[in-house]
Formats: sequence, C-alpha cells, structure tokens
Amino acid sequence: MLPYFAITEKPGYSPLNEHLVARLAKKKTAIFCYLIDEITERVFASAENLRLVAQCAVGYDNIDVGAAGRHNVKVTNTPGVLTEATADAAWALIMAVTRHIVPADRFVRRGQFQGWRPNLFLGTGIQEKTLGIVGLGRIGLALACRAKTFGMKILYTATRSHPEAAQALDATYCALEVLLKYSDIISLHVPLTEHTRHLIGPREISMMKPNAYLINTARGPIVDERSLVRALKKGRLAGAGFDVYEHEPRLTPGLEKLSNVVLLPHIASATVETRLKMAHLAADNLIAYAQGRQPPNWVNRF
Ligand code: GLV
Repeated sequence: MLPYFAITEKPGYSPLNEHLVARLAKKKTAIFCYLIDEITERVFASAENLRLVAQCAVGYDNIDVGAAGRHNVKVTNTPGVLTEATADAAWALIMAVTRHIVPADRFVRRGQFQGWRPNLFLGTGIQEKTLGIVGLGRIGLALACRAKTFGMKILYTATRSHPEAAQALDATYCALEVLLKYSDIISLHVPLTEHTRHLIGPREISMMKPNAYLINTARGPIVDERSLVRALKKGRLAGAGFDVYEHEPRLTPGLEKLSNVVLLPHIASATVETRLKMAHLAADNLIAYAQGRQPPNWVNRF
C-alpha cells in the first residue's frame, strides 16, 4: 500500500504548528515541508507512523533532528540545486549595499535626479578589497568564485581548510577573529546550529572594520540583530545586506529605518529554475522512500 503524504497547506511560523499536527493524524507516513514549518518533538510524538520528513530547502533548522532520530524518522533536504542562485543573491546584496543601488533607485523615482554630479551616490569599490566568507561550503565556495572574478581577496572560515579552494581562488583559511578584523565585506554561509546562533554578536561586531559590510543569506539568528542595529546606527559599520532575519518574518526594530541596509524577503533561492529543482529533489526523496529505497539526501543517518 502506498504511504500517505501530508503536505502542509497553510504554512506558518507557528512554533507548534497545530495545523500540521492535526493533519498528520495517525496514518501519515511522510511530510513534505518548507523551512517555515516548525517540525517539533510534538509533531513527531503525535504521528506514530511518520517515517520521513522531506524538507524543500537546504537548511533544516526548523526540524528538530534529534527528535526525528529518537522517533526513527528520516529527514532529507535539497542540497546543491540552490547553490548558484543563493550565491547570486549574496553577490547582488554585496553590489547593492556597496553601490547604494536601492537609495539611488528611489532618488530617481522621486524625481530628484537633476543631472550628473561628481559625488552623487559615491559607493565603495570592491576590487582589491577582502571578502570574508564565514563557512566555505557549497554556497560559500560559489560566492568565492564570483569574488575572485571581480578581483577580490578572499579569507574564509570552515570546519576544515580546503587546499583546492586555496589553490584555485587564492582563498586563505583563517580563524573567525582574523577574518572579522581584515575583511571589508563579510558574508555568512554557515547553517544555523546551537554553535552558530549569535555567532556574530557585539564582540564580533567590535572586531570588524568600521567601514565593513555584513551580508546574511544564511539564517537570521546567526546574527545578534539588536547589536547589529545598534552598531549600524552608531556608524560602527558601513552597512548590511540581509535576506534572512533573527525573528523572521519580523524585523528587529530600527532595521527598517537604516538607509545603509538592503533588506530582502528570504528570496535567495527564488528563481523559477531553482525552486523547480528544489521541489523535484524533495519529491525524489519522497519517491525513494515510497519505493523502499534510501532517500538520496538523508541528513540524519541512523
Ligand atoms: C533557504 O533558505 C534554504 O535553506 O533552502
């Protein structure tokens, strides 16, 4: 008999996701979900036949993976297919914040453009500058390729050094403190875990150059946003580009008032091509499970 698949119809950021719990009932054996669906211990406990959670995203911090393991539920994600789109979005944020693209667009729309001026919206050039990549995984590496093409120097942190990256991209492996101290632009590409929550807090911000930019396309809670807003208000940093937020979808008060930040609504992987590939990959995991095969992107192996 084919297993039942529960697909979230009313996704939300609700912590217990009562809707999902109610829909799972007893018979459902697999869930297709998005990063906004909180799959908690309570969800696992309420669905005794649940065997697979197929997340349609690469990050899966919305799923209590420990609880999944305790309940013998496999968790899968969609790695690889969103690498380029996400690196593109990080790159777009870098270009937007360093060249004042968003305020300049508003300026023209408001009819304020009176003609060319030597100092109009003077930005910061990126050539010869240093990009600090926090987490040289697939997306970090794709961003490094872009940065290299644009003539940037690259520092990176990772769980281990990548000699092949060092060779191809002249990227230098270093400690986070060194990266923060020497980078002109810092881009975050680590997953959200208990170790990376508030990885960038007041101490780290104080180590950054006063003219540095911070880019976050990873997960919001990696940055202590209140400290960041405070630093930006004081001019302690040059600017920031965010696609994700600590209390998503809410913004930390004050963030929306800052003119030196560019704020996107979590769209880094949002291209037609990428979202289709993500959906297919999540479906491949469901189908593999339904056919009794090992899902290709099983993350909590047991
Ligand atoms: C998007 O944020 C993802 O993790 O796929």
